Amino acid sequence: MNVTMRGLLRPVILIRCHMDLSSNIVVLTGAGISADSGVATFRDSGGIWAKYDYREVATPEGYAANPTLVHEFYNLRRSGLNEVEPNAAHQALAKLEIAMADAGGSLTLVTQNVDDLHERGGSKSVWHMHGELRKVRCTACGQIRHWQQDLSLKTECPACHALGTLRPHIVWFGEMPMLMDEIAEAIANADQFVSIGTSGSVYPAAGFVGEARSLGIPCMEINLEPSENAYLFDAAFYGPAAEQVPLWVERLLSSVSR
Ligand code: OAD
Repeated sequence: MNVTMRGLLRPVILIRCHMDLSSNIVVLTGAGISADSGVATFRDSGGIWAKYDYREVATPEGYAANPTLVHEFYNLRRSGLNEVEPNAAHQALAKLEIAMADAGGSLTLVTQNVDDLHERGGSKSVWHMHGELRKVRCTACGQIRHWQQDLSLKTECPACHALGTLRPHIVWFGEMPMLMDEIAEAIANADQFVSIGTSGSVYPAAGFVGEARSLGIPCMEINLEPSENAYLFDAAFYGPAAEQVPLWVERLLSSVSR
């Protein structure tokens, strides 16, 4: 059943129900959750899009025009992962995932981030809707595989042995994000939607809060500052994710153990 159909069946009002660990929570994360680990965001001052033109490094057209530049951009970001560690926000979400599973609930963690800090922070299930830096895809044979090294036009696909056909397993502008049906289904079945560290400026992710809201699902934002669609959230906590996310998770855990 798609989101629109569910919307017709559910009352379109804001239901402020008490959250507990046996409920279903969908969390969407963005670059802000990794900022406290030292990973650059995109749109903050000095962010990635202040240094690079996204049309050159993050579009199929840019890759066709200058694949070497695109490889260099992602090689730098991939190797940069060796220099960073997950922070308290990543770790708190991993703790919440376990607590909710133990209590019969579920935490669906959807991330726009292509780093692996959620996994290294302990999360078992992470839906990377914009792909993953540490994966590559062969444009000849289609195989996706884990990848730690640099890519170049001289790199051979280990599966089909074609040369220069491996590209970053990253969703570029103009491409369809991954897992869209699964995310829509998770939102349709959610008791709460929580957005963490995203500016709310890139669709379709920026539209999730609107979908959740139209289904009567309470929505909360945790961000350094109000995002572009802050007005759509029922509740918000502003401050660094590494402080605010653990506080939220502890509040949730302690409200249950009382
Ligand atoms: P942005 O750079 O657009 O937004 C980052 C958000 O994090 C901003 O709202 C900041 O205020 C907030 N922020 C910064 N530091 C923070 C901190 N320490 N704690 C909490 N919040 C903090 O990044 P995204 O919203 O993730 O897509 O960007 C979405 C997509 O745009 C990315 O996935 C990427 C980019 O182009 C593709 O490349 C396809």
